[in-house]
Amino acid sequence: MTKQTKQETSNCSNSQLFERIAQDLQTKGYSINPSALPLDLAGSLSTHIQQLAANKFNPAGIGRKQAHKLSDVVRSDKICWITDETTVGGDWLNWTSELQQFLNRRLFMGLFSFESHFAHYAPGDFYKKHLDAFKGDANRVLSLVVYLNHNWSEEDGGELVMYVDEHDETGFKVNPYLGTVVIFLSEEFPHAVLPSIRDRYSIAGWFRVNTSNTKHVDPPR
Ligand code: OGA
Ligand code: MN
Repeated sequence: MTKQTKQETSNCSNSQLFERIAQDLQTKGYSINPSALPLDLAGSLSTHIQQLAANKFNPAGIGRKQAHKLSDVVRSDKICWITDETTVGGDWLNWTSELQQFLNRRLFMGLFSFESHFAHYAPGDFYKKHLDAFKGDANRVLSLVVYLNHNWSEEDGGELVMYVDEHDETGFKVNPYLGTVVIFLSEEFPHAVLPSIRDRYSIAGWFRVNTSNTKHVDPPR
């Protein structure tokens, strides 16, 4: 297959996925898509994250800037921010950029930037119920999570629990299967990660709107 044909094929399947995501966001505010990340991208990200040296991962912080502190009471995963310095990082950022452009055209979301990190949850690691953004602090608008686990089974645990609003106490579970793409409005949906019995790999990312004005230039992170 020539490069051109491959590109066209992947754009075609992407646009079906992106359209489904747009419709879900309009109707429900979240979208769960099993086996949705292009298979070659999911495979190379999965290989890459497992080969990343342990010293590239850092304990994840909670909150931003001055509020930034480590808290293994809330979460115990380790993260590594993604850049386009590696081929696979670049491929991932191209894919998320296509999604960003699609959603901006389709839903006029005004998404301005994107940041994402690899996450490794060792057996027993967790992330307690939380929101990715708070109302009034509205620059993280859309959360994106993809899973990178081959041969994951239900008994391995590590589910994402999504709560449909602040009154929902039960929520529903999403298994972290390779290629599942989860996307939701960052301010609207509390969610949590349950402990797993295996190493659990994922990417978490956020699309932001631009809150810069003349007195304040928004930092990239
Ligand atoms: C996060 C997060 C969910 C997951 O990193 O903020 O909620 O399933 N991740 O990894
Ligand atoms: Mn989260």
